[in-house]
Amino acid sequence: MDTLRYIRSNIFNPISSEETEYLPDQVIAIQNGTIQSISPFGEHFGAWEDYRKCLLLPGFIDLHTHLPQYFIRGIYYPALLPWLEKAVFPEEARFRDPLYARHTATLFFQELIKQGTTFSVVYSAPFREATEIAFEVAQELGAQAKIGMTLMDIHSPEVLLQTTDYALKHSFELTEKWNAPLLSHILSPRFAPTCSENLMRELGAYARQHQSFIQSHLSENTDEIALVKELFNKDSYTAVYQEYGLLTPHSIMGHAIHLSDSELQLIKESGSSFAHCPDSNFYLKSGEYPYRRIKEAGIPFGLASDIGAGTSLNMLQQAKLMNYRQSQDAILPEELLYRLTLANARILELDHLLGSIDVGKQADLLFFRLPEGFSPAYQTLSQLCFSGDSFHLQEVLVQGRRVYKSE
Ligand code: GUN
Ligand code: FE
Repeated sequence: MDTLRYIRSNIFNPISSEETEYLPDQVIAIQNGTIQSISPFGEHFGAWEDYRKCLLLPGFIDLHTHLPQYFIRGIYYPALLPWLEKAVFPEEARFRDPLYARHTATLFFQELIKQGTTFSVVYSAPFREATEIAFEVAQELGAQAKIGMTLMDIHSPEVLLQTTDYALKHSFELTEKWNAPLLSHILSPRFAPTCSENLMRELGAYARQHQSFIQSHLSENTDEIALVKELFNKDSYTAVYQEYGLLTPHSIMGHAIHLSDSELQLIKESGSSFAHCPDSNFYLKSGEYPYRRIKEAGIPFGLASDIGAGTSLNMLQQAKLMNYRQSQDAILPEELLYRLTLANARILELDHLLGSIDVGKQADLLFFRLPEGFSPAYQTLSQLCFSGDSFHLQEVLVQGRRVYKSE
C-alpha cells in the first residue's frame, strides 16, 4: 500500500465539448495510482504538498501518431503522396534494424511523457520485431499506449512490403500477446492504397469477432482519394473500408477531410470515430477538417499529433491549431481541453480510468506552472490553450508515479 499523498492545486476538469469544471484551491488525495478524493482546501486537515502555483490537468491523450516518423518531423515535401514516398518510406525501412528501432522508440516515448501525453495511439513500422521493441520500450518506460504494426501488402516499396500472410499472422499474434487495457495492440492497415482486398477483409472479420480496435487513414488528400477510386472502383473512399468490414465501433480513422454527406452517414451508422490532425492537415496542404459537418453528424472525434506530418508531440499546440485552422468556427478552450482528454478516453473506451480528474480514476496528472505574475482563474485555461509556451510543464504523474519532473 502506497502512502497517501495530499496535493493542493487548481484543477481543470473536462466535462463535455462545452463544459469545463474549474476547481480552484483543492486538495486531491492519491494512493495506489488512483484518485481517492478531491475537496476544497478549507475542508482539509493535516499536511499537504504545495502546488498552488500550478494548474492541474488530466494527462493528454494523442489519438494518432507514428513512432517511426519521429526523426523526420519537419522534413518537407509538398503533399501526402510525394512526402510518403520520399521522406516516410525510406525512414520506416530503417526499422528493420532492431537497434535503430529501440533507439527511436526510447526517445519517442520519453518525449511523449515530457509533453504530458500519458496515453497514445501509435503506428509502428511494418515489421514484427520493431513493433515488439516498441511494446517493450513502452513497458520499460511506463508509457500507456495502443501500438499497431503498420500493414502494407500491395503498392509499397519492396523494403516495406509484407505478404498478406505476414501482415495477418503477426497482427493477430500481437493482438493476442499485448492485450492489457493500458498497453495493447491495435490493427493498423496503413490506408486503402497499400492494403489488398484480402488483407482488409480478413482484418475486418477478425476485428468483428474479437472486438479489436482498428486504426487507418481516410480521405486525407485529393490525389490519394483519386488513387483509391482508381484502385477499388467503389462509390467512395469510405465505401471501400465499409465493404471490407473495417468500419466498426472500435475503428479510429485519421484525417477525414474530404467526405460527402453520405460518407459521413456511413461513418455515423458504423459507430467509428475520427482522429483530427490539424497540424498535419495544413503542413501537407491536405485541407481543412469539416468540423461543423462532423459535429452535426454526431461522429466522435479527438485530437492527434500525427507525427511526422504533424511537427510536434505537444498536444497543446494541436489544440491551438484546431482553433486556428477552422476558417469559420471559433473553437473554445472548453472544447479544446475535451478533445485532448476525455473525448479520446471515451473513443478508446477507457474513460472509466482516464481522461478526467475524478475519484476512482487513475492519477494521470499534469502540473503546469503559471507564468510569473499570473493568478489562477477560470480564464487561465484559455491562456494555457492559446499561450501554452508561457506555461511550464513541471511534473507528470502516471498512475500516481512521477514519470517526469523538469529542472
Ligand atoms: N496515409 C498513409 N500513411 C500515412 C502516414 O504515415 N501519414 C499520413 N499523414 N498519412 C498517411
Ligand atoms: Fe497518420
